[in-house]
Amino acid sequence: MPQLTYEVNKAVDSLIRGKLVAFPTETVYGLGGDATNEEAVRRIYKVKGRPTDRPLILHVPDLATVKKVVLNWASTESKLASRFWPGPLTLILKNGGFISESASAGYKTVAVRIPSHPFALSMLESFAKVGSGVVAAPSANRFSFVSTTNAEDVEISLQNYLDKADMIVSSNSRDECKFGLESTIVDCSNGIPTILRVGVIKKTEIESCIGKPVRISKIEGRRQNSPGSSSIHYSPKTAFKMISNGEIKRDLLDLCEEGETFLWCFEKPVHTHQNLIAEVAPSCPREYGRQLYSKLNSLDREQLALILFEEPPKNEDWNAICDRLDKAKNRFCTKKL
Ligand code: TXA
Ligand code: MG
Repeated sequence: MPQLTYEVNKAVDSLIRGKLVAFPTETVYGLGGDATNEEAVRRIYKVKGRPTDRPLILHVPDLATVKKVVLNWASTESKLASRFWPGPLTLILKNGGFISESASAGYKTVAVRIPSHPFALSMLESFAKVGSGVVAAPSANRFSFVSTTNAEDVEISLQNYLDKADMIVSSNSRDECKFGLESTIVDCSNGIPTILRVGVIKKTEIESCIGKPVRISKIEGRRQNSPGSSSIHYSPKTAFKMISNGEIKRDLLDLCEEGETFLWCFEKPVHTHQNLIAEVAPSCPREYGRQLYSKLNSLDREQLALILFEEPPKNEDWNAICDRLDKAKNRFCTKKL
């Protein structure tokens, strides 16, 4: 595929020169830079607007490179890696000291994953031949805003902060973020595997892989009481609310009185209203997850008075989606409805 080779070479060239590359992964777009280049890593924090006490995920092409960045490699991580890598799983392990201090934000641990997306993997493999092969990349969105899953959303989010020499890898069907939700993060650094962020790889799959129970922790990879908490400043113009099926039946017409209202629901509502745009959401969690962020990003640009999402089912298949919707709820305007 000549176009793929051309873009990979261009991306690797940018990484080598210490520039940033927003690249697709199978989860979301990442804003990447050479994890061993202090200057490049500092710019990632700056472009993203992220507090520097929140460490970045390292993206590597293979196990040999993983072992360069971590201190120990024990049987739990080895089982998880052979089952889920390349793929949407991030492991927290003891820091081997290979990367720049800023990439790990001074932590004694590092977050690392081998992505499965063809572009990401190919870029990392080529970068390992001519450079460090380790790309530090948070999700490619401004801090506390919605993650991005296509080049257009990355551009809208970051264009005012990127330099000319940085690069946004274009999207097309080949470059799709097929899961659309950030990786599952499992902390394996202290003997008791703990899920720090839920994702498409489920708790039960992790437990059956390692043959023991895992905990889910709510701190989501952040130092408790750290100044970089997410209850922040983002208040876009659109009000956003999760709504139950019963509330749709009972309150929908009243809610539409606010102005133009978008409803993402699992079955078309019986009522119509001149202010209402109702769209049926995918009933399959995998497809819903794939569409979620691009839906939120595009709806937030539409000058709507109100965005309503019907509450998804409460079971393990929808766990990661409910987690992200919960966060989105806090990010969007919390105006009283
Ligand atoms: O799917 C993903 O994971 C995407 C793609 C681009 O790979 N990346 C991503 O990165 O979601 P980011 O920075 O948006 O989220 C990473 C989370 C942050 O909450 C960060 O604090 C946590 O991982 N984290 C990173 N290093 C950690 C560490 N050593 N210990 C605990 N949490 C860590
Ligand atoms: Mg993020």
